[in-house]
Amino acid sequence: MKLSVIVPTYNEAPNIQELVHRIATICSDIEAEIIFVDDSTDSTPTTIQQAAAISALPVRMFHRQEPIGGLSGAVIEGITASHADYCLVMDGDLQHPPEMIPVMLAQLENSASDVAIASRYCGEGSSNAGLSGTYRRMVSKASTMVTRSLFPVRLKGCSDPMTGFFAIRRTSIDVAALRPTGFKILLEILARQPLKIVEIPFIFGQRFAGSSKATMSQGLRFIRQVGELRVGRIGLFAVVGAIGTVLNLSIMATLLMFGTHYVVAAIAAAELTILTNFLMQERLVFKRARHSAASTRTRFLQSVGFNNAEALLRLPVLVFLVEILLINSVVAQAGTLAAAFGLRYLFHTKVVYLARPQIEPAVEDAISKGPALSRPDSEKLSPAQP
Ligand code: GDD
Ligand code: MN
Repeated sequence: MKLSVIVPTYNEAPNIQELVHRIATICSDIEAEIIFVDDSTDSTPTTIQQAAAISALPVRMFHRQEPIGGLSGAVIEGITASHADYCLVMDGDLQHPPEMIPVMLAQLENSASDVAIASRYCGEGSSNAGLSGTYRRMVSKASTMVTRSLFPVRLKGCSDPMTGFFAIRRTSIDVAALRPTGFKILLEILARQPLKIVEIPFIFGQRFAGSSKATMSQGLRFIRQVGELRVGRIGLFAVVGAIGTVLNLSIMATLLMFGTHYVVAAIAAAELTILTNFLMQERLVFKRARHSAASTRTRFLQSVGFNNAEALLRLPVLVFLVEILLINSVVAQAGTLAAAFGLRYLFHTKVVYLARPQIEPAVEDAISKGPALSRPDSEKLSPAQP
């Protein structure tokens, strides 16, 4: 197989028939297949089966029971399921013109590039038709600019790291290194590994039918993704710690203003920030890891327990360092804070959010439920080959 066209779908029923027809028409001379990775709650899976039955190209579908990683997770599952030389990723709503597929494939075949990116922001490319409203256009341009400046080396030569339309040489990317979340899978791929890029301008069109699945929470996911790519998980953990410290001091100052005794105020501030830190780290630092870790209750008890023990122990350790080992108190305090941070990070990654062993890997699990979902059955979607 030369090419797998990977299409992530979430409630795209009215677009499927047209999409399959246009991909099959333009790829009639290419040894290609279409892989749908579907998380829909509407009739999309049935529509895919119907379209597959009359399609000239083989069609496979993975309907996921658990939509881990959303759009990006779906793309990764599609790439994992492919055995083709090249994988091309495109949306299922026809904002990405299927007629570009041979052009992008040719770029990869005729150059030493690993990724061919259909860009809205180079040459004759444009996003005006596809992005509804000035607000979304501005957000898209601004976030593209910020992201490019944060990754000047890896995104060199890429004017549109946020596009969802690109083709890759399958063996040139390391799927295991990726942490898919949200909508920006290309950014994840480019930021994690050095790849040779070629760009092709394209016009991001209007949806054929239905409406965008992008939400505010996708925006927040994107910010977290950029943070993790730039400073790593330990960096995000440190950011949570820093916010916690500011919060701690503000709570303490407020309580003092109301005449609370300083010891009571310090304890109350510590306990409250232990709670807010837990909430922040669940959402910001370990959002993906928590799905395969212990239950929320266990994570909460372990995290709060550790942080309380740490807060209690830090003072006696400081006294020991200063009184017995005669270390300068400021140096000793800096040491205890640094050690506490390191231990806290280790405890959270190695205990609280450690992945529990699972009976089956997520991908196998997700595709082995229900008739249209298993690999053999998904193969059956394809008609006899011409
Ligand atoms: N499997 C799966 N799971 N597919 C999803 C999910 C999900 O959770 N969420 C969205 N999709 C599918 C949609 O069904 C569609 O085929 C494709 O992903 C893109 O979703 P849209 O809802 O059409 O997104 P958009 O048009 O707002 O955003 C597109 O353009 C952006 C550039 O402005 C996407 O290509 C983005 O990746 C891109 O950044
Ligand atoms: Mn779209």
